[in-house]
Amino acid sequence: MASSPLCPLLLPLLLSSILLLNHPVKCDDENDSLLRGINSYRASLNLTALSKNDNAACLAGEIADQFKDRPCTNTTGSNTVPGTEPQFADYPKLLTKCHLNVSNTQDGVIMPACVPKLEPSLVLTNFTGSLYSGNLNDTKFTGAGIGSENDWIVVVLTTNTPAGSFVPFNAASVVSRIGLIFHLMFLLMGSIFLL
Ligand SMILES: *[C@@H]1O[C@H](CO)[C@@H](O)[C@H](O)[C@H]1NC(C)=O
Ligand SMILES: *[C@@H]1O[C@H](CO)[C@@H](O)[C@H](O)[C@H]1NC(C)=O
Ligand SMILES: *[C@@H]1O[C@H](CO)[C@@H](O)[C@H](O)[C@H]1NC(C)=O
Ligand SMILES: *[C@@H]1O[C@H](CO)[C@@H](O)[C@H](O)[C@H]1NC(C)=O
Ligand SMILES: *[C@@H]1O[C@H](CO)[C@@H](O)[C@H](O)[C@H]1NC(C)=O
Ligand SMILES: *[C@@H]1O[C@H](CO)[C@@H](O)[C@H](O)[C@H]1NC(C)=O
Repeated sequence: MASSPLCPLLLPLLLSSILLLNHPVKCDDENDSLLRGINSYRASLNLTALSKNDNAACLAGEIADQFKDRPCTNTTGSNTVPGTEPQFADYPKLLTKCHLNVSNTQDGVIMPACVPKLEPSLVLTNFTGSLYSGNLNDTKFTGAGIGSENDWIVVVLTTNTPAGSFVPFNAASVVSRIGLIFHLMFLLMGSIFLL
C-alpha cells in the first residue's frame, strides 16, 4: 500500500493550525503599548509584569464607552480625587456583558484617564505620574485589561485571588470551546482542500 503523496503537506498544515490555536489574534494598539509602558514602570520598581486579562479588558472597554462623550477637564480621569469618580448606574449590566460579577471583580481597581487624542507619552504619565501609581506599584495586582474610546482610556487591574481574578466560572470554557471548533474547522477545510 503506497503512502499518500499528500503526507508531506499535512505536517506543515497541522503545525500551522497548532500555531493558530495558540496565537488566535495578534493586534497591537494603544492599549497594548500602554500595558508595555506600565510593565516597564513596574520593572523599574523590581515588580513582576502584569499579564493581560481579557475579561478585564472587556470591562475596561465597556467603561471607556460610558465615558467617551465626556470632555477632558482637570476634574476627569486621573485628575479626579479618588472616591469622587462618577458612578455608573449600569455597572452591574457592564459586568454581566463581560461574564463577570461582583464576586470575581471586587478586589480589582478601575482607573479611567482622559487625554486628548490619547497622546501616548501623556497617557503613560497620567497613570505613572498620578495617584494611580499607588495601584500600579502594588504587588497584589497581577493582571490588567485596557480599553479605550475617543479621548478616554481605562485600565482595570486584577489580582490572583478569586475576588479579583476576573475569571468567570463558565466563560473560560466557552472561549476555549470556540477556539477548538475553529481549530477543527480549519483542519477539516484543510483536508477537503487536499482531497
Ligand atoms: C531593583 O533590584 C536591583 C538589583 O537587585 C537593585 O539594585 C535596585 O536598587 C532595585 N530597585 C528598586 C527600585 O528596588
Ligand atoms: C480646574 O481648572 C479651573 C480653570 O482652569 C480652575 O479654576 C480650577 O481650580 C481647577 N481645579 C483643579 C482641581 O485643579
Ligand atoms: C457570581 O457568579 C458566581 C458563578 O457564576 C456565582 O456563584 C455567584 O453567586 C455570583 N455572585 C453574585 C453576587 O451574583
Ligand atoms: C494627564 O493628561 C493631561 C491631558 O489630558 C495632562 O494635561 C496632564 O498633565 C497629564 N497628567 C500627568 C500626571 O501626566
Ligand atoms: C507606591 O506609590 C505610592 C504613591 O506614589 C507611594 O506612596 C508608595 O511609597 C509606593 N510604594 C512602593 C512600594 O514603591
Ligand atoms: C486591547 O484591545 C483589544 C481589542 O479591544 C483587546 O483584544 C486586547 O486584549 C486589549 N489589550 C489589553 C492589554 O487590554
